Formats: sequence, C-alpha cells, structure tokens
Amino acid sequence: MSITNESELIGMQKVSEAVAFTLKEMINYADVGMTTKDLDEYGAKILSGFGAKSAPYLTYGFPGWTCISVDNEFCHGIPSSERVLKEGDLINIDVSAELNGYWADNGGSFVIGKDINQHQKLVDASKEILEKTINNIKGGVKIADIGYLMESEAKKRGYKVIKNLGGHGVGRSLHEQPDELMNYKSRYDFRRFKKNSVVAIETFISTDSTIAVELNDGWTMVGNKGGYMAQHEHTIVITDGKPIILTQMNEILN
Ligand code: CO
Ligand code: CO
Repeated sequence: MSITNESELIGMQKVSEAVAFTLKEMINYADVGMTTKDLDEYGAKILSGFGAKSAPYLTYGFPGWTCISVDNEFCHGIPSSERVLKEGDLINIDVSAELNGYWADNGGSFVIGKDINQHQKLVDASKEILEKTINNIKGGVKIADIGYLMESEAKKRGYKVIKNLGGHGVGRSLHEQPDELMNYKSRYDFRRFKKNSVVAIETFISTDSTIAVELNDGWTMVGNKGGYMAQHEHTIVITDGKPIILTQMNEILN
C-alpha cells in the first residue's frame, strides 16, 4: 500500500508493533526441548492480545499461527507437537498478521542454544545483508539494483540466494504490489521503489541451494540442493532518505 495520511500510518504502526513484539517474544521464549507447536501457541496468545489475526491462516488457510521452520526446512514450516527443538538447531520464525484491516510481516533466523553446528555465520550474513539492503532503499531506486546488491553481498560471504522467493508489497493484504522483490538482479525488472509505499524486505541466504521446493505436506519448503537458509525480514515505509522500519521492535538485527 501507499501511505497517504496519518491514520494509515498509525494503522500500519500498530499491526507492525504486534508482529514485531510477537516475533521478539517468540525468539526469547524458544528453547531446547520445546516443540514448535508450544512456540506457536505462545506466539498465538501474544498476537491475540493485540487483537491481531494470523495472516498466513487468513490468506492461505495455513495450519498454524506463525511459520516455524527448523534446520533443513527453509520456510513455511508447520508448527508441530512432534518437532522438538535441539541444541544448535537453526530455526526461522515468520510472523505476519492483520489488525484493523492493516497487514504487516516480519521474520528472523537464529540458533537455539550453543552453536554446535556452526550456523551462526550464515545467520549473521543474512542480518548484515538485510541491514545494508534497507539502508540502500529509497524512492526512485531500481528494484533490480537492490536485488543485485543482495546477491553480491551474499556471494562476497560465500553464500547463494534463493531465486524463487522474494519480498513484497504489504499493508492492505499480506502480499501486494510491488511483488517479487528478488534477492538477485532480474534483467527484465524495470520497476523502481516508490516513496510512501510499504514493503516487506526479506533475505533468503543459503549455503547450497538456489531454489526452494515444497514438501508433500503442501507447505514446508526445503532447498533443491539441500543445505541451510537464513531469512530476516522487516516491514518498511519508503521515504526520500532512510526507510522507516515499522517492525524495528523485533530487534532481529541487534
Ligand atoms: Co514476507
Ligand atoms: Co514473512
């Protein structure tokens, strides 16, 4: 959406705070021995407290409140009472919701407990790339140039990007125009970011794969060549200068 007045900005700030606070609390709560279902129920309570509803449930009928993906799962992981978090697991939580007709989206990857599987380097690369990306977005900047920046920053660190996942416009629904904000330079993409528009910017940084493929459960995505992926996502408002990060409260880049 494009922010045209004060009440739209306030609406976006409220839903963004709800998803950001929920994500932060879920990351703090996540621990060894907990199931991803426990973690999702914890997040569901916080979202409900704000009066917010799960965006993936409302939009796609997703079987959970939040997406929780563990280890080889890249994204859209279904919260499950069978999935127990272990020391050193790479976990991604993505929280998106609707509140009073406004929608916001955010997510982050992190390591549970001690980093015994050496995932932290990938997580840190994804964080650094999201920060750099956001700092380079303003009205008039080419969307493809930002994609180029993300891929070159990933390559510099020895990683790849996922080519079939991208950021997106957000605000009046979960996914809106401009859609397909890719992590690489798309030759035929001549669009530019517009001042006052709201977008969800997300990294998809991977060790081995370049394509995410869906498992038989119809939701969970893994890599075409295996390995691991880290994602960090903020909902932002584009300005003439540095963007306003609506989901700043999630502290994913700290
Ligand atoms: Co998103
Ligand atoms: Co998301």
